[in-house]
Formats: sequence, C-alpha cells, structure tokens
Amino acid sequence: MIGKLNHVGVATPSIEASVRMYRDLLGATSATDKRALPDQGVWVAFVNLPNAQIELIEPLGEDSPIHAFLARNPKGGQHHVCFEVPDIFAARDEMRAKGATVLGTGEPRMGAHGVPVIFVHPKDMGGVLIELMQEPGATVGGHAS
Ligand code: CO
Repeated sequence: MIGKLNHVGVATPSIEASVRMYRDLLGATSATDKRALPDQGVWVAFVNLPNAQIELIEPLGEDSPIHAFLARNPKGGQHHVCFEVPDIFAARDEMRAKGATVLGTGEPRMGAHGVPVIFVHPKDMGGVLIELMQEPGATVGGHAS
C-alpha cells in the first residue's frame, strides 16, 4: 500500500534560516511561503525538489509539539518521513490490524497539503515517525479529496 515518498519533515527553530540554507548551500531554487497551521501548532514551508519536498516545521504557540523536539535538538533535525497511500482510512485500519500505534485519536487530520494524514508511532517503525498521507487527487468513499 505504500506509495511515493512525498516529503521529509525537518524541525527547525527558523524556517527563514533553513530556507536560506537549502538555497545557499544546496542550491534549492524553489520554496513555498511560510504559513501557519494553528490546529497542529506549527508553521510550515516546503522546499521543492524534483522528486519530493522538504517540509520545514517551526513551532507555533506555546503548546506546539515541536518545542519538545527542539529542546532535544536545538539546531533542529529530521522529524518525520511522509509516504502517500491510496486510501488513508484503509491505511489506518491496516496499521492497527498489524499492531502499529496510530497517534492521537486515529482520525485522519487535514495536513499541510489539504489532504488527510495520520502519524504512526516511531516505536513500531524502527525509530522513525511516519506520516501517511492520502494521495492528492485520490478518491475515498466516492468523494474527491
Ligand atoms: Co509532514
């Protein structure tokens, strides 16, 4: 069921500084504007690569889940990896059936790409926090997403 690598999530204390680093050190030519996702307590911006994106994540608000990560990794660091799946609900059910822990309530939440996502606990994934994301343009239950 696993599909394309969509993005690698990278936590950072400064999206602006990280965008400059990807541009100046690595020659990245395209990045999105920084925008707020208040429900998830993060600012996000994407560095566009030919085959995937880097999702830069900066804390938004006092309760941001990224504060704890940055306390452990003050310069930022690799936070999660996101794969596309054809059906987010089927993926959620399959993860649970196979004994993996889906974070939160398990109800898919709207992610930065405007499609529903879930997160699977790193303890079941070799220490890597995994985001599964509904393939953009896929249909689930007869509704375009
Ligand atoms: Co992500």
